[in-house]
Amino acid sequence: MSQIHTHSSLKLTHRLRRLRQSEPMRALVRETRLSPDMFVLPLFVCEGEGVRREIGSMPGVFNLSVDEAVKEARAAHGDGINSVILFGLPDHKDDIGSSAYDPEAPVQCAVRAIKRESPGTLVLTDVCLCEYTDHGHCGVVIDDEIANDPTVGQLVRTAVSHAAAGADIVAPSDMMDGRVAAIRAALDERGFEKVAIMSYAAKYWSAFYGPFRDAADSAPKFGDRRSHQMDPANAREALREVEEDIHEGADIVMVKPALLYLDVIARVKDRFGMPTAAYHVSGEYSMLKAAGRNGWIDEPRAMLETLTSIARAGADIIVTYYAREAARLLA
Ligand code: PBG
Repeated sequence: MSQIHTHSSLKLTHRLRRLRQSEPMRALVRETRLSPDMFVLPLFVCEGEGVRREIGSMPGVFNLSVDEAVKEARAAHGDGINSVILFGLPDHKDDIGSSAYDPEAPVQCAVRAIKRESPGTLVLTDVCLCEYTDHGHCGVVIDDEIANDPTVGQLVRTAVSHAAAGADIVAPSDMMDGRVAAIRAALDERGFEKVAIMSYAAKYWSAFYGPFRDAADSAPKFGDRRSHQMDPANAREALREVEEDIHEGADIVMVKPALLYLDVIARVKDRFGMPTAAYHVSGEYSMLKAAGRNGWIDEPRAMLETLTSIARAGADIIVTYYAREAARLLA
């Protein structure tokens, strides 16, 4: 240190480091704050009782029977997580996904049970057919193509059955055209005008859904999802998708995945100012978990930095498998 001289002529008006010198100072000027209120925890509900089966590619995430899903929702509530989104794993699958709207299927039973046993929990449901069709596609397949309009009919039945079970928000994730308007009209017709719609408005054809398909056993048996999910190269098109869903009556719009599409989240929020959600998807979660487990990364820090970046981009709501862990760290 012997040769260091203070630069006496350095007269700085602004020293940005002033506001970084202590934690209370940093906290005072922090622009983005995470809160457990903004997190939605995904739950994968299967048939049976007492089932709690960890998903190989998603450490810390489980297939849960209805009774276990209720326990998980209550435990999450205890951590400060007030919202869950349900995915179904039915035993019975067929070519039209009919168990998606079976009132006795896992999702419908879990909605009723969670609303009864954990009334403070907001229950969202994923509306899609891929977990319910034997071919694993998100819709009805006619001549090797996913037929848009017949699929919308099936999605409407599914959404209505979720609302009838007591869901607070239905979340269509299928990317068919016109489904938000059709679901809105059907809900209103049956007296469910209070049930909100969170549309997966800009959902990309992403490699990062891989672990989810293990969890939900929903990988397509042939072909892929490129005829309905968006091309990762397109951002302007995402604005058109979102605009369309808003016109059709979406209450909340979602961008998915989150981390690789932060620019899209920011543009959607800027342009429309709607309640904006982002889905931190399975692959994004599994990468952090794997690196953390190998000791290659400080997982808690990486998790909070990741969630902060999604919120900073403009997301008001973050769907994440980390919901409980993050809430516990923030407490
Ligand atoms: C469709 C749906 C998927 C996800 C959420 N809803 C799978 C897909 O589109 O293939 C992916 C979520 C994740 O990867 O965490 N029901």
